[in-house]
Amino acid sequence: MQKVVVSFRLFKEWIEFLKDNGFEVIAWDSSVPPSKEWIKENIKDADGLLCSLVNRIDREIIDAAERLKVISTFSVGFDHIDVNYAKSKKIRIGYTPEVLTDATADLIFALLLAVARRVVEGDKLIRSGRWNQPWTPDFMIGTEVNGKVLGIIGMGRIGRALVKRAKGFNMRVIYNSRTKKEVEAEFVDLDTLLRESDFVVLAVDLNPTTYHMVNRDFLNKMKRSAFLINASRGKVVDEKALTEALQSGTIRGAALDVFEEEPTSLDNPLIKLENVVLTPHIGSATFETRQKMAEVSVKNLIAGVRGEKMVFEL
Ligand code: DGY
Repeated sequence: MQKVVVSFRLFKEWIEFLKDNGFEVIAWDSSVPPSKEWIKENIKDADGLLCSLVNRIDREIIDAAERLKVISTFSVGFDHIDVNYAKSKKIRIGYTPEVLTDATADLIFALLLAVARRVVEGDKLIRSGRWNQPWTPDFMIGTEVNGKVLGIIGMGRIGRALVKRAKGFNMRVIYNSRTKKEVEAEFVDLDTLLRESDFVVLAVDLNPTTYHMVNRDFLNKMKRSAFLINASRGKVVDEKALTEALQSGTIRGAALDVFEEEPTSLDNPLIKLENVVLTPHIGSATFETRQKMAEVSVKNLIAGVRGEKMVFEL
């Protein structure tokens, strides 16, 4: 019997699906991720590993596996896996792009609108009993989204989905990415993007070139009236530099779905700032999308173990 390890809490019906397909399944069943030791111990004689972004799959883990054929991740991001090392050991990698594009682009727009129109601040004001004045023309003034400039950094699937949404808001869209793309948006260099954008959205993956891409220098180049939106990976942003920029008025606001450390702690000074909207890494968190991610990642796992074509392979 072939053996697969699932190193995060996967929906029960997909565990059953794997068993029904004839696999021995060793599955972690807690929201707290397993230790490295647990993965190493169980992966030893496994044919496949289904992991998520909370599992760091490094050389040590890969070396512990004696007959692993595939690592399938329940995510589009793969910065938690030493991909090159796995590939050098002929281990295939599956991931879940496409199925989460729309859900993530929707959340990015939700964040953009929320921070521009002060939605969360307004909600907090009412709940804390501080809504104590009648309507006046200057109360809770936010920033108009319609007709503004959206600057997208990275033009992959999510970037393209953002372009579509931005058209509905009559926005001018500019973008910067490694190469020019066929897309209804204007390619500009990074400095131009930062100088002209009212909203800067990060749609890049985390790799050595994007780590702390948003630093003091980057933020200083943005308009003082601009907002930063990040639902990619927390480590793309130097949170210390962002906090200082938000406190000093270098930029107007930020909306973040991802953090340098997750879960982020109450000591994170970003939490204290009014001009920041925060969500807990929920870009792909809709019922429909998470089901599709489960299906794709399980099918990738099975195909990888059986030496067949995966749905999405790196
Ligand atoms: C991913 O898939 O990489 C997201 O961060 C979580 O859905």
